[in-house]
Amino acid sequence: MICNVAALLALLAPAALSAWQSGSPLRELAESRGIRIGSAVNPAALKNDPAYAATLAREFNQVEPENAAKFGPVHPQEDTYNFEPVDSLVAFAKAHDMAVRGHTLVWHNQNPAWLTRGGFGPDRLAAILQKHIQTVAGRYAGQIYAWDVVNEAFEKDGTLRKTIWFDSPGIGREGTAYIEQAFRWAHAADPKALLFYNDYDAEGINAKSDAIYQMAKDLVAREVPINGIGLQMHLTLKPPLIADIEANIKRLTGLGLQVQYTELDVRVPLVDGAASEDSLIAQARIYNDVAAVCVKFKLCTAIQTWGFTDKFSWIPGAYRGMGAALEFDANYGAKGAWRSVAAALSK
Ligand code: G3I
Repeated sequence: MICNVAALLALLAPAALSAWQSGSPLRELAESRGIRIGSAVNPAALKNDPAYAATLAREFNQVEPENAAKFGPVHPQEDTYNFEPVDSLVAFAKAHDMAVRGHTLVWHNQNPAWLTRGGFGPDRLAAILQKHIQTVAGRYAGQIYAWDVVNEAFEKDGTLRKTIWFDSPGIGREGTAYIEQAFRWAHAADPKALLFYNDYDAEGINAKSDAIYQMAKDLVAREVPINGIGLQMHLTLKPPLIADIEANIKRLTGLGLQVQYTELDVRVPLVDGAASEDSLIAQARIYNDVAAVCVKFKLCTAIQTWGFTDKFSWIPGAYRGMGAALEFDANYGAKGAWRSVAAALSK
């Protein structure tokens, strides 16, 4: 125990230590550095759990709807949109001086049955997607400052994922031209929004991140409206290769693009429903290491986690026996992970 506390304290720079002792919220530390600190948000928790709303408003200066702006939830029937959950998050953000990121316009998952079972051909699909992007990004112009325009379009080996939008049957554009088209439609819908490509397991250097880099380089060279790359950062206790993450951020920001961490979490094994103290120390170190890389780069402009409390997280539902992935425990107590992010923001 003493040893673990000592290990944790060793992570903290003096400024962070005083921030932690005085309880400075993460957003104050982030604002003094000019970076955004964000969280994905569950609208039901926001409505029904006052401690959730209070912690979110106190600690973060950016929010993103976790599911509510995806195609299926926001556009459940061809002629029906369900904007209320996103509208109420935008209103919450406005009331608490927070920025809103949008997620996501083009994805292979969480699409509605009317779309996936509609039997539409490429021309019709292109028209549907253009209208969807125009309607959703257009509605939130001036309120959602950045969009994940396209999410998870690459496979692990760097080839394009087979999806309804790409080739099954696709919107009728070859290769990454379908991604380019989506960015052009998003730009037309909201010319001021920052437009991101977002993906997972592409934080370091590998075949997928190489393919994303090559696409980004090509889009930038041809002045396609793209402003950044989202690194999801769904991590485990296997320590990430920080030098590779740094090299990837360096090459992406070298193109003049922003990089944002969009979905950071670090899942740990649960024993009888609880994380061990050692695993939380290891988790805190990883939070510190990845946050510290981002703050090195002026163009790494946001650190966002996929939720913020272990009370609400996608991890236990997706990975049996895993959880406790976020900065606050299920009772909204700040964990070592929180102190780690505070430490990185204070350096
Ligand atoms: O809303 C329905 C509810 O009506 C129903 O009763 C319940 C029963 O299963 O399901 C509810 O929908 C669930 C939805 O989350 C909202 O809670 C879906 O089953 C569930 O699959 C869905 O999971 C989401 C997942 O994306 C889908 O792929 C997670 O919450 C969400 O955190 C996750 O987010 C993704 C990012 O968008 C992209 N990157 C990876 C990340 C994690 O998978």
